[in-house]
Amino acid sequence: MTASTRQARPPGPPLRPTAMLQMLRRDTPPWRFAEMAHTFPRIASLRFGAGPVYLVTHPDLVRELLVVQSKSVEKGPALKSAGLVLGDGLLTMPNDRHRARRRLVNPAFHHSRLADYSVVMTAATEEHLKRWTSREGERVDMSEEMAALTLDIVGRALFGAELGDRAGEVYADMGLAMSGWEKMMLPGGTHLMKLPIPAFKRMWAAADGLDAVVRRLIDAAAKRKTEPVHGVDVVGDLMDAEVDGERLPAEAVRDEAMTLLLAGHETTANLLTWAWHLLSRNPDIAARLRREVAALGHAPSYDDLLSLPFTYGVVAEVLRLFPPAWVLEREVTEEVELDGWTIPVGSIVLASQFALHRDPRFWEEPTEFRPQRWLTPDGAFSDDAPGQPRGAWFPFGAGTRQCVGESFAWTEAVLVLATMAPHWAPVTDPSWRERLHAAVTLRPHGGLPMTLHPAR
Ligand code: HEM
Repeated sequence: MTASTRQARPPGPPLRPTAMLQMLRRDTPPWRFAEMAHTFPRIASLRFGAGPVYLVTHPDLVRELLVVQSKSVEKGPALKSAGLVLGDGLLTMPNDRHRARRRLVNPAFHHSRLADYSVVMTAATEEHLKRWTSREGERVDMSEEMAALTLDIVGRALFGAELGDRAGEVYADMGLAMSGWEKMMLPGGTHLMKLPIPAFKRMWAAADGLDAVVRRLIDAAAKRKTEPVHGVDVVGDLMDAEVDGERLPAEAVRDEAMTLLLAGHETTANLLTWAWHLLSRNPDIAARLRREVAALGHAPSYDDLLSLPFTYGVVAEVLRLFPPAWVLEREVTEEVELDGWTIPVGSIVLASQFALHRDPRFWEEPTEFRPQRWLTPDGAFSDDAPGQPRGAWFPFGAGTRQCVGESFAWTEAVLVLATMAPHWAPVTDPSWRERLHAAVTLRPHGGLPMTLHPAR
């Protein structure tokens, strides 16, 4: 501790029961965190929960938390509770075992694999497009549509096989398991979940169902005599991977497969859902995206990615305004110092992408949807182009726990939009208000009602 270290807690919003109750509503916390960044421009002390909770509101402190002091913090209780369903995979695993596991999983997500994955991505998207052909003028829930598509993509990429008729089962179980996870995140949630209440029983049954499907798919991948579809098979890669002569035990393969299935579809589904909504409300931007794709002269593929800088800008701008991972949580395991304040062991520290990505100190016209801010003067996409400081932009986290699927997600989002947008211009219901459902990920509250209109 330095001589200047302050012992008391940093200031924060006053303890008001009404404000605390509001924080339990799923649409409030992202906005409240953004407001707090105005009032408490570096760090705030929050008065909810049993122990001390802090919110870092400055990019320097986001880096400090996620990168510089990363060895002194672990994943927080909300994420750890997911381990009950996911098992002990990369997302939830403690730091001491994380490095070795990450080295095993990394090669499956190396840049050199993206060309293969992109074939799977466009094939699944083309099939989804065909299903829309007979649905012109139909009202759909875009959240469901995009979740079905991204689940199909990640399922094919993970297991080297189409989920086929199991897709519906996986989709339904995944939804129930996710809503169970939301409840586990509430204070005391992990204990409540063990009560014999029908909703919780359904959630555990769904988790068991998911487990059975994942185990069957892993068995099938292990016994496969033929090449996987398009040579893509992350789970097969994990079964063969070795670090220092060690292979992953079967149970660890199951836990990673489950983690990747969940982490790999829900976030991207939300990103694409918000993208359709923002394109619907900004027709000029949608038209520019279509012109960029039309200039290719053919259906987009992996080789065209560099020719789609504006589409990348659209994806970046959606990630900025509606980051699917909207807050990160860490629990302090070794006393740390943040901005001169001593943060004791057991404290929870939060860093909110939603708040930092919309902070007027670091972004020009922060609430505007302006994909062109991500383009350099010569028209290339760059995630430094807006000129924001490091730590003000972290849709995929930062440091050793940064998302392993980041390149996969960018490629997927760009290819899905570039494949679908030339054909369709879905329109958000005019009466729909941008109400958030901020839980595990940032979703539109109650889904996103859109009507399928063909693109002109
Ligand atoms: C738009 C899409 C995505 C977003 C916004 C996103 C965001 C994130 C974030 C913020 C983290 C760090 C969490 C933390 O520090 O607590 C993370 C971790 C992770 N993500 Fe993603 N993700 C996306 C897509 C994917 C995909 C496609 C996959 C896999 C196919 C994936 C797999 C993972 C895994 C396994 C981790 C844990 C990494 C580790 O701790 O080593 N994610 N993701």
